[in-house]
Amino acid sequence: MKRVAVFTSGGDAPGMNACIRAVVRGAVYHGVEVFGIRRGYNGMINGDIFPMTSHSVSNIVQRGGTILKSARSKEFMTPEGRKKAYDQLIQHGIEGLIAIGGNGTFTGALKFFEEYRIPTVGAPGTIDNDLYGTDYTIGYDTAVNTALEAIDKIRDTADSHDRVFFIEVMGRDSGYIAIQSGIAGGAEMVMVPEVLTPISEVVETLKQGWSRSKSSSIIIVAEGDVEGNAVVLAEQIREQVGVAIDMRVTTLGHIQRGGVPTAYDRILASRLGLGALEGLLEGQQNVMAGIVNNALIYTPFIDTIKLPKPINEDLLRMVRILSV
Ligand code: F6P
Repeated sequence: MKRVAVFTSGGDAPGMNACIRAVVRGAVYHGVEVFGIRRGYNGMINGDIFPMTSHSVSNIVQRGGTILKSARSKEFMTPEGRKKAYDQLIQHGIEGLIAIGGNGTFTGALKFFEEYRIPTVGAPGTIDNDLYGTDYTIGYDTAVNTALEAIDKIRDTADSHDRVFFIEVMGRDSGYIAIQSGIAGGAEMVMVPEVLTPISEVVETLKQGWSRSKSSSIIIVAEGDVEGNAVVLAEQIREQVGVAIDMRVTTLGHIQRGGVPTAYDRILASRLGLGALEGLLEGQQNVMAGIVNNALIYTPFIDTIKLPKPINEDLLRMVRILSV
């Protein structure tokens, strides 16, 4: 393989730049030409493809976001869009791809391979940590720390005013960000999509806390929680509590996607970027590079897409025990 291209796709995640840097510098090391594609699959379709050098990735290891920009491409979901993308790759002489992204990115790469046989190796880049085949995804650790910083601040004001706060965190259908930020922030409860927590249980926990003179409480709600978002939940709980409670809701939103990546994310992204590139050069295709038990492994896209990544329910149990 003489020429490869790298792109970021889907929701951006802190550490993506460190991953791009590892791909580019790895390619330079191995004597392979490397191109960048801007705005994910949209850039592939529009031919927004340019050569990169070692210098192109100077001073980016510490930057959040992605210098290649990102997009969720509707056009790539169509056969016409994928044909345009293929024509552009052929025109630019690209023989293999490194895709940094999540589930949607790898679904697109797999479809593309079935039609045009262009090999892709993925690096898991998403704050959600929802991909089977890696213990952690690029950006997750930073997102948890960003959420935690916000939770700590909210706890100060919750405590000053004797309030109950519902804090909604991101994660799409996954409760990973909620659980870890909840444990680290000393939350009274964590509500996640993977495990149903009846409203009556939340009410009971709050009442028990008040009976022990607990004056403020923090409840972390994952955005994908099956009972609804934090606003809906807070209203239902207010109705069931039966006494007047001073309650507020904060949705953290996209603040969790930005910011300087943590050391953990930079190192993870560097390992995964180089691992993805070297896998591609060694003949891997349609797999995602991941780190499991501190070892680099490759998992078929089909498994990363289809297989669930279960949460550790023991951690939810721990939240209850530690909030007593
Ligand atoms: O996948 C990352 C993520 O931030 C999810 O946590 C969230 O559900 C979604 O993307 C938000 O997407 P958008 O930025 O397109 O609104």
